Amino acid sequence: MWSIKTALQAVATAALLSTAIAAPSPFGGGMTIRQDNGEKMVFCHYMIGIIYVRTSAADYDDDMKRAKAIGIDALAFNIGVDPYTDQQLAYAYESANRNGMKAFLSFDFNWYHTDQAVQVGQMIAKYASEPAQLKFGDRVVASSFAGDGLDVAAMRTAADNDVWFAPNFHPEKGTDFSVIDGALNWIAWPNDGNNKAPKPGANVTVQQGDQAYVTALNGKAYIAPVSPWFFTHFGPEVPYSKNWVFPSDTLWFDRWQQILELQPEYIEIVTWNDYGESHYIGRLDSPHGDDGSSKWVYGFPHDAFLDMAIPFIAAFKAGASDPAPYITEDKM
Ligand SMILES: *[C@@H]1O[C@H](CO)[C@@H](O)[C@H](O)[C@H]1NC(C)=O
Repeated sequence: MWSIKTALQAVATAALLSTAIAAPSPFGGGMTIRQDNGEKMVFCHYMIGIIYVRTSAADYDDDMKRAKAIGIDALAFNIGVDPYTDQQLAYAYESANRNGMKAFLSFDFNWYHTDQAVQVGQMIAKYASEPAQLKFGDRVVASSFAGDGLDVAAMRTAADNDVWFAPNFHPEKGTDFSVIDGALNWIAWPNDGNNKAPKPGANVTVQQGDQAYVTALNGKAYIAPVSPWFFTHFGPEVPYSKNWVFPSDTLWFDRWQQILELQPEYIEIVTWNDYGESHYIGRLDSPHGDDGSSKWVYGFPHDAFLDMAIPFIAAFKAGASDPAPYITEDKM
């Protein structure tokens, strides 16, 4: 009888054979990868804006336990400027702490403006001493979605802490990478170079994105993205109207293979709970509001993505290129 493990091994073997003739690692031969914490870590992007309905830290506990169980080390709390943000962050940090999860703020520049460096720094300061705050030594970790053009020096001054800042700045925008400590690449899906699906003549792989970041970072820490899917279908009834889909059929498997080949210091799973973009790996029934995405999301739990991540995360942390030894159970 055919098992998932056998199927995975067959596909993995095929993938390894095909990558053997692909381009060499962007790190080049034998270059030491800088480690800021002495260990590989797995982050997961976590939307605070979709869970404003929660009323206690207990409402976060299941998420924290599930994330920890699959090997996620820290959640990147994506925040905008909504009035409920501080209340939800208080619950989230409390729950993270009691469940052995780490966390850091990720400023969403769809909502923050790049002239708000002082506000960004002040938010970092406000949560810097939370027990669950991820720190490298004394350095308070912080990140972003977008934000090119932020005055990083002004942010650092306002933060009143030594900040380990790895934002989602973009090499192709010519942003100064000398003032940051690392960077998150958001683009986890094959694309056209312009935030849409590939088209003839404009076909950019996720690995090309990896290489652009690794080059721009020049030895600084790279947070590489891993995502299962991307589909969104918000009509003109909401101000965040957007309709697009990226090729994702076997992406969850393919991208994990690429990660095991690249072996960056850090990875960020995109996302835990962005239901509206269909790349959630967390549970659909964990308490959250409805941004309008229930129309295409409800009835489609993604729990299996969590199960499938387990051997890949274990292999990533071990520096292994083959997930097979880390598969302990066949499941469908
Ligand atoms: C983009 O490239 C991939 C990999 O080479 C290929 O499978 C796909 O068909 C291409 N897509 C388009 C629209 O050209």
